Amino acid sequence: MRLAVLASGRGSNFQALFDARDRLGVGFAGVFSDRPGAAVLDRARAAGVPCRAIAPRDFPDRGAHDESLFSAIADVQPDLIVCAGYMRLIGAAQVRRFAGRMINIHPSLLPAFPGLDTHARALAAGVREHGTSVHYVIPALDAGPVIAQATVPVRPGDDAGSLAARVLEREHPLLVASVGLIAAGRVRQLDDRVAFDGLPLDAPLQLGPDEELHLP
Ligand code: GRF
Repeated sequence: MRLAVLASGRGSNFQALFDARDRLGVGFAGVFSDRPGAAVLDRARAAGVPCRAIAPRDFPDRGAHDESLFSAIADVQPDLIVCAGYMRLIGAAQVRRFAGRMINIHPSLLPAFPGLDTHARALAAGVREHGTSVHYVIPALDAGPVIAQATVPVRPGDDAGSLAARVLEREHPLLVASVGLIAAGRVRQLDDRVAFDGLPLDAPLQLGPDEELHLP
């Protein structure tokens, strides 16, 4: 399976996938960013993965930027697009074009806290458990069917930074394990649900402390 990774910043999730490539049996068709200075591009170059930045400011509107970006992605013919810290909304036209072939990692236990500033919002809400989700991308923000989640405890004295760091540690194995199941052909999108071995999942898969997903 060939992956295209879409990211806006640091790229630690890309790195986790890249480092697991042999175990997962995946290759990398390209890394794409909306930010020419994003550290993820340096990581891609160091890894020998083709990369490209396409900045929104060079286009008249979101649709035109999306069209250019996703045409560049289509050119490298990925089997799966992984949004790993891509911080822009993707318009419905491109989401539909890649329906069932695009996943996102989001730093909350969806459906709680879609959108930005999830860690600060989780703290403000007083939740005792927070975490991260991997889901298929649909035209509504952070709302697609959830494949898998990892939970972390909220600890007394946490601030948004400490909580984000605890969540990020779980993002990496969660994304790797989720992509592994897709690459193995065991997980796919089935309309508004996730299918595991052909049967709809009732609830997202959960990442265990051993960094493996609990399978149904
Ligand atoms: C992660 O927390 C991801 O969930 C969020 O943005 C962050 C990206 O981190 N959407 P990185 O660029 O993969 O290091």
